[in-house]
Amino acid sequence: MAHIVITSGPTRQYLDPVRYLTNSSSGKMGACLAESALRLGHQVTVVSGPVQVSYPTDACVLSVVTTQEMLEATQRCFAMADGLIGAAAPCDYMPVEIAPQKLSKTGRGLQLALQETPDIVATLGALKRMDQWVVGFALETEDVRFRAIVKMAKKRCDMIVSNSAEAMNSPDNSVEIIKRDGEVVEQATGPKSFVADRILHQIQKHLIEHQP
Ligand code: C5P
Repeated sequence: MAHIVITSGPTRQYLDPVRYLTNSSSGKMGACLAESALRLGHQVTVVSGPVQVSYPTDACVLSVVTTQEMLEATQRCFAMADGLIGAAAPCDYMPVEIAPQKLSKTGRGLQLALQETPDIVATLGALKRMDQWVVGFALETEDVRFRAIVKMAKKRCDMIVSNSAEAMNSPDNSVEIIKRDGEVVEQATGPKSFVADRILHQIQKHLIEHQP
């Protein structure tokens, strides 16, 4: 049995007490991955941004809001885990300043100054021990496989799941599962629950049981 940490859903970056930047990630892929991992007998911790989806009751769920909070919670759990699946869509940008009061309209528009948030998968890919593994996701619209492989190397992932842009907030997904050496070990299309089972099957085979 392995202890697997799964990041899931979007994050929010507040501009003021009531407005925030986010994206349309639903957390559905993370929930399906959690179910698949539990079915294989693994211990699962989900670190999730704000979502409507329900996670399996047997998973330990940590709720976070911002990308920084997701990084801190994931880092804490990963220290005691065997692997990480980065299925979240964390906000890549945050406002340089958060206004303490609601911003009022001035009739002159508003320029936002944004800075990059930390990259959770890349941070933990760089920190992982020899006995730990990290699986990332990639969503590209051109040179899809090549860019996924470049991303896997850059973020020091052991495997990457290249998925279609239609996956966001959809019940279905279409993925290529790519190993560290660039080999596409599986292409899977269908409901996210089916795709999650195939991803966990490949993780089990190549990263948990280390079969050639
Ligand atoms: O760079 P990009 O966002 O395309 O990479 C996607 C992968 O990186 C996913 O596994 C996603 O969960 C992860 N990611 C992250 N932290 C970020 C941005 C993306 O862990 N701030």
